[in-house]
Order: sequence, then structure tokens, then C-alpha cells
Amino acid sequence: MTTVSDKNRVLIFDTTLRDGEQSPGATMSHTEKLEIASLLDEMGVDIIEAGFPIASQGDFEAVSEIAKNSKNSVICGLARASFNDIDRCMEAVKHAAQPRIHTFIGTSPLHRDITALSMDAMADKIHDTVTHARNLCDNVQWSPMDAIRTEHDYLCRVVEIAIKAGATTINIPDTVGYTIPRESSDIIKMLLERVPGADEIVFATHCHNDLGMATANSLAAVEAGARQIECTINGLGERAGNTALEEVVMALKVRNDIMPYATKIDTTKIMNISRRVSQVSGFVVQPNKAIVGKNAFAHESGIHQDGMLKNAETFEIMRPADVGLSGTSLPLGKHSGRAALRAKLEELGFELGDNQLKDVFVRFKELADRKKEVMDDDVIALMQDAGSES
Ligand code: KIV
Ligand code: ZN
Repeated sequence: MTTVSDKNRVLIFDTTLRDGEQSPGATMSHTEKLEIASLLDEMGVDIIEAGFPIASQGDFEAVSEIAKNSKNSVICGLARASFNDIDRCMEAVKHAAQPRIHTFIGTSPLHRDITALSMDAMADKIHDTVTHARNLCDNVQWSPMDAIRTEHDYLCRVVEIAIKAGATTINIPDTVGYTIPRESSDIIKMLLERVPGADEIVFATHCHNDLGMATANSLAAVEAGARQIECTINGLGERAGNTALEEVVMALKVRNDIMPYATKIDTTKIMNISRRVSQVSGFVVQPNKAIVGKNAFAHESGIHQDGMLKNAETFEIMRPADVGLSGTSLPLGKHSGRAALRAKLEELGFELGDNQLKDVFVRFKELADRKKEVMDDDVIALMQDAGSES
């Protein structure tokens, strides 16, 4: 069972292979799933949600195989609130050194309507299914789906039932990405204050990004006492996606001064896994995506490039090497200044005096006005033209 020895240690629960794969069009092959799971394991992810075993034979096999191969991570499978689902899930995760069953049911009024269960009937079902899961496995996570839109009194009641039935982690999903940081924090605080036994288990936060606040909401939950963040690589996931692993992990690292919480993620492995997930899912990472976008460590404007050449801290709050990149990039474009052009020329082996640089800079600006980005070959061509004219 996962225990938090240090009260400020935050567990990272990656669900790229389950919630991430639920993105329309993001299906991964069996081999690709095994590869991603092994990269997650190597980078220090505490819990890997490997799939939804009852969903298909393929999912069952992927979860079983990942469970067999896992080295350090807890391997978790998802199951609805049904004995069949839970049994199938256990069948798949049982091969892991550290298996976990994650069972859930929608508890908000909308979901109770759909399942046609009264509050009492649902409470009984939660008791029975969590008890069943706990009889099979020591490590049980329970989620009240759509927790954020569930009445607070009912949420407290069902969380207490799940804890008494043996859940070791209680996940509070913002299933539809509806919450804001203050509310995300208040709900965790409320549960910790009101639910008997709440201090004996781990609270998790599971946010979706429909309003672009998944990272902020996850961090707010941690500040209120949650100690597990559920997330995916590149923020892959249903609709606008889930909380991005790279964002919460780097935020906790970079702002450790005011958020003194630690994960055990080796952040230098972030870029590699981000690229692999993008390749296998077919989901291209937007250039301005925080942490892993192509432009996350690129500076084009003259003032920024000049500052970066003098002291990288002027315009970078983390080092590219922290996420596994070899360096900052200073792409040349129409906003670039003389300092960046000189640095590029030197990198390409051209040593120019001030007057020569002035000439080349004029030509460079003319070219940059026509081209979005001036590449190394363009700079070399500029130098060749300058040589043939002199
Ligand atoms: O978003 C959600 O509510 C989920 C649950 C299955 C935990 O993914
Ligand atoms: Zn989800």
C-alpha cells in the first residue's frame, strides 16, 4: 500500500494510459502502452493508471502486461461500481508487485438521475463495492465522479462510507473542469475537517482542463491537504484534457519557496516522454504549451535575446536542462537584435568586426521581414552574398 512518510510528499498518479487514451483519436497500441508505462515507471511516477480492464480484451491485456513489467510504480486499473468490473480489474493488476484497484461512481445529482439510484441506494452500493474491492486488494482508491457538483453533505457522507469500507485513497474529481482554485481548495479542507478518518487516508485531486484551470486547481487542492495529483503527459485527456504532469511537477519544483511539497519525478525525463506520448497518440503539442512546447525555452525578441545572452535568469524561470533539453533556443526573426545575430554568426564560425556586422544586420532585417524565421542556412547565405559583393 502507498504510504506518505513525509507529510509534504505529493504522489504523482499518471493516467495517460487511461483518461489520456480516452481522448478521441488518441488510441495507443499494446506495444506503445508498454513503452509509455516503462518510461513513466523510470521517471518516478508513483502510481500508473494503466487502463480500464473491463473495457476491452486489449485493455485487459495491456494492464496485465504493464503490471507484470512494472519495477517501482504501483499499477492501478479502473473499475465501475460493480463486482464484475472490480473482479476483472483485480485479475489484471494482480501481477503487479504493488497493485491498486480504482473504483468510482458518479455522485452528483445528474449522475444519480442517470443511474436512477436514490442517495441511500447509492450509499449502499458504495459500501458494498468498496468493501468487495478491499477484500481483494490492500490498496483501493475510490472516486465520487463529478465530486465538485455533488452536494457537500452527501459528498462527506459517501467519502466517510468509502473510508470505513476500506478505501486507502479518496480521489476528488473535477470531472467536467468546472471548479476554480478557491473551491478546489475549500472542498479538500472541508473533507479533512468534517469526515471522520479523513486524516488516515490520502486525498487525491483529479482535474480536467475545460476552463484552463486544471493545473491551478490541482495545486490549490495540494495546498489544502491533497497529497496525490492525477495527471497525464502533455495534459492529454477527454475534451480539453487533464492536468498536465509536466506543469504541476515543474510548478512544485520552481515555486518550492512558497509551495514546499516534493514529488519524486526525475524532471530531466520530461521532454523525452512528452515527445513519445505526442508521437504515439498523434496529438501534436502546441508550440506555446507550458514546459514542453517548442517555444517554451525559445526567445526571439531583441531585448529578450540580449538579456538571455548576458544572464539566462532574466527571461527563464527554469533551466532547459531541468526538463531534459540541451539548451535555450534563440531563433532569429524580425524581432531579433544585433546581439543574437552576432552570437549566431559566432556559433556558425564567422568572426565579424562592428562595421561588417552592421552591414549584415541590415540585410538580415530585410530577410527577416520576408521570412517568419531565419534559419542557419539563411545566415550562411547572407554571409556568402556579403563575401561575393566585397
Ligand atoms: O474525470 C473523472 O471523474 C474520472 C473518474 C473515472 C475518476 O476520470
Ligand atoms: Zn477524468
